[in-house]
Amino acid sequence: MLVQIHSDIHFEESYYHGTYEGTAKDRLLKMLKAHGPQELIVTGDSGHKWTVADWEDITKIVQLTLLYGNHDDLKTLVRVRNADGTRALVDDGEVRSIGGLRFGFINGIIGSRPKEGIPRKTPREFMLVARELKSQGVDVLCMHDSPITDARMSPTAHTRNVIYSAVMEMQPYYSIAGHVHGGTSIGYIGRTLHANIDSSQKWETYATLDTSKMKLSIWQAMNRKPSIEYIRTDAPQRELADVARDRKLSQKVADLFGRRHDSNRAGERQKPVPLTAA
Ligand SMILES: [Fe+2]
Ligand SMILES: [Fe+2]
Repeated sequence: MLVQIHSDIHFEESYYHGTYEGTAKDRLLKMLKAHGPQELIVTGDSGHKWTVADWEDITKIVQLTLLYGNHDDLKTLVRVRNADGTRALVDDGEVRSIGGLRFGFINGIIGSRPKEGIPRKTPREFMLVARELKSQGVDVLCMHDSPITDARMSPTAHTRNVIYSAVMEMQPYYSIAGHVHGGTSIGYIGRTLHANIDSSQKWETYATLDTSKMKLSIWQAMNRKPSIEYIRTDAPQRELADVARDRKLSQKVADLFGRRHDSNRAGERQKPVPLTAA
């Protein structure tokens, strides 16, 4: 199965560092058409211009998993549904089986207080979610916040260290994050290959993961060849028919973020669970 991963699309009716961001959705559709993935994961900072109808243009052609970052409209994101009725937006600590691999998710960023209704996590909360994921077993970690140091965006190296430690503790085959803008960074954190991507219109880098080959490719815009390609040969062979959604969470994490997760079946919950500031 081919999974396409974008981050920090920043679909906005405005300019960022001289780049107009209002055509990001159309650009995304073209990039999806170019690869034809079965799954799309967007790891936060989608931007505020999206409507539910806009997202439906995406879910018509691909199964969608959404994370929130720190530049999102949560009221819209919680309403986005896939064609099979599953909610696109993940919960913290949620694991979804995609193409036979276990994808784990951590929303948002580490910070002291919510902004624009978007929750932040304390370092302790971030690690709690990471440990929840570790207990479930994760092959691919997707998060918005990044272990990569950027002095401009994160004056405290402590925050980066927390995320780095979370990846070290979990040790998935791949971890993918955004938040830190400026193209792509890739490198090892322990045995995990970490890739930071920036799919804003200024950089337009994104990843594809061929789950059957464990092949991660990093692309820039519409280039026909990937700029980086990597295959994990140490990954175990898995049952590729396993596409069920797994929403098991410990009560500790569910309580922390104010939600219960009694339903594990795709499409069983009809109403989106409201997200509240942590
Ligand atoms: Fe961003
Ligand atoms: Fe961000």
